[in-house]
Amino acid sequence: MMQRKIAFIGGGNMAAAIISGLIASGYEKSLITVSAPSEATRTRFSDQIGVLATADNVDAASKADVVVLAVKPQLMREVCEGLKGISNIDQKLFLTIAAGTAVQLYRDILSPNLKIIRIMPNTPSLVGEGVSGLFADDAITVQDKSFTTDLMSAVGKVVWVDKESEINHVIAIAGSAPGYLFLFLEAMQDKAMALGFDSAQARELILQTAKGVVALAQHEQDLGFNQLRANVTSKGGTTFEALNVFDKNGLKATVDEAMQAAIDRAQSMETEFSKAKKS
Ligand SMILES: NC(=O)c1ccc[n+]([C@@H]2O[C@H](COP(=O)([O-])OP(=O)(O)OC[C@H]3O[C@@H](n4cnc5c(N)ncnc54)[C@H](OP(=O)(O)O)[C@@H]3O)[C@@H](O)[C@H]2O)c1
Repeated sequence: MMQRKIAFIGGGNMAAAIISGLIASGYEKSLITVSAPSEATRTRFSDQIGVLATADNVDAASKADVVVLAVKPQLMREVCEGLKGISNIDQKLFLTIAAGTAVQLYRDILSPNLKIIRIMPNTPSLVGEGVSGLFADDAITVQDKSFTTDLMSAVGKVVWVDKESEINHVIAIAGSAPGYLFLFLEAMQDKAMALGFDSAQARELILQTAKGVVALAQHEQDLGFNQLRANVTSKGGTTFEALNVFDKNGLKATVDEAMQAAIDRAQSMETEFSKAKKS
């Protein structure tokens, strides 16, 4: 991949995951700087990971070609206000991984011509198995998009969306989905333990099943999830009986409602954070 000077503003779990992925794929460590207020975080990056670390967001961003905004959404406005006025801002590529922060928010604060790409990664990125939704408008060059694809490919798969509103759909489909799937695993573990299995046995049975199901679906690329389900369900059998209960209790409608709630929350965060500027 192209090697550009990158500054990460914020050195949390997601920044650490991306940086570790980049280094593992051969990215030059001396091109990466992390800016974070706490000394403990900076020491972790400089001593354990071997990249540059600073407490000065402006200095880090000024020296970089690519600025990755990796703080919590609630802090994003304040952090961007602090970066206002850095030189050559329109030549730099900005990437934001914060949910609920629209492209317009960054252009309002930093520059109307800001080159900004929205990225929505998910937690499995922490183990290199993430998937990220990416959005860029027409102001972004093919080279910048390609760089960003390579960057996020260091921690998993990448899916570009055509409209900014679709980033909120990616949040519902992938960003928040680890939470839904963990809930399902947890519910199964609760029942297994009620049946007398200890938590380790239950975890092993459930995790290996989940892993096997994913492997099977990846192996049978031509089969839809509905067909894969049908293939494991004999009429009148045990799976059939269990699935009937999910059906009777409206699992699909519940999933639909839950995913819509995630989308609605992402949209209301965008409104919340964009309004904050006028107050
Ligand atoms: N984790 C995920 O699975 C995930 C998934 C999708 C999107 N995201 C998004 O990614 C972003 C980061 O998430 P995270 O989980 O990595 O967060 P996190 O672990 O809480 O890390 C946030 C980082 O921001 C730093 N920070 C706080 N104030 C700052 C300031 N004024 N200037 C510079 N840095 C500052 C903190 O520094 P100290 O360490 O010094 O306190 C910390 O390193 C969030 O917007 C989140 O919504 C995360």
